[in-house]
Amino acid sequence: MAVIVYFSRKYENFVNGEIVYLEKGNTEFLAEKLHQKIQGEIMEIVPKKSYPIEYQEMIEVAKSEREKELRPEYFPIDESVLNNSQEIFLGFPNWDGSFPRIIAHFLENHDFSEQIIYPFCTHEGSAFGRSLFELKNICPNSTIKKGLPYRGSRLSRVDIAIENWLVQYKLNGGIKYGKK
Ligand SMILES: Cc1cc2nc3c(=O)[nH]c(=O)nc-3n(C[C@H](O)[C@H](O)[C@H](O)COP(=O)(O)O)c2cc1C
Repeated sequence: MAVIVYFSRKYENFVNGEIVYLEKGNTEFLAEKLHQKIQGEIMEIVPKKSYPIEYQEMIEVAKSEREKELRPEYFPIDESVLNNSQEIFLGFPNWDGSFPRIIAHFLENHDFSEQIIYPFCTHEGSAFGRSLFELKNICPNSTIKKGLPYRGSRLSRVDIAIENWLVQYKLNGGIKYGKK
């Protein structure tokens, strides 16, 4: 079984060089599109302390979390679903060149040694940045497959990218995907 687990922040963001208000986070949008194409559960990592609405304030908070190596708390998630999933689709936005610290905290709290991780991220130009190195450091024994980075401002065309990403695993006999 596969599970999609993601963190995403809506509110103000920087899109195509200007600040816009997103009703739905970009990574959430991508995660939901992905969920339409694979069989499995979808779970959101929800922070206990909400992040700021304003973009500039958010930048400062993210920078501080990274510099202090904070471990932001999140609401409990269904551990049995995670444990019973062989394939973990892990989604996050690129913050300051890597995944948000809440993702680091989530990964540190779990042992995915026996599982396969398929990372996906949304970004505004830096793609995965350093996140794949950090992912490998926190999950040294997991199999980490080629991920899908996608620019948040181009999400209207993401379907084909998801299909191209997934098809290689279908050919490998990995993920069985199809419309639910
Ligand atoms: C705090 C913060 C830091 C960001 N840092 C980067 C970055 O270093 N590189 C980049 O390409 N995009 C960066 N972005 C843009 C986001 O990665 C992009 O807008 C993403 O799609 C947001 O996803 P979300 O709506 O799911 O949170 C940053 C956005 C925020 C809010």
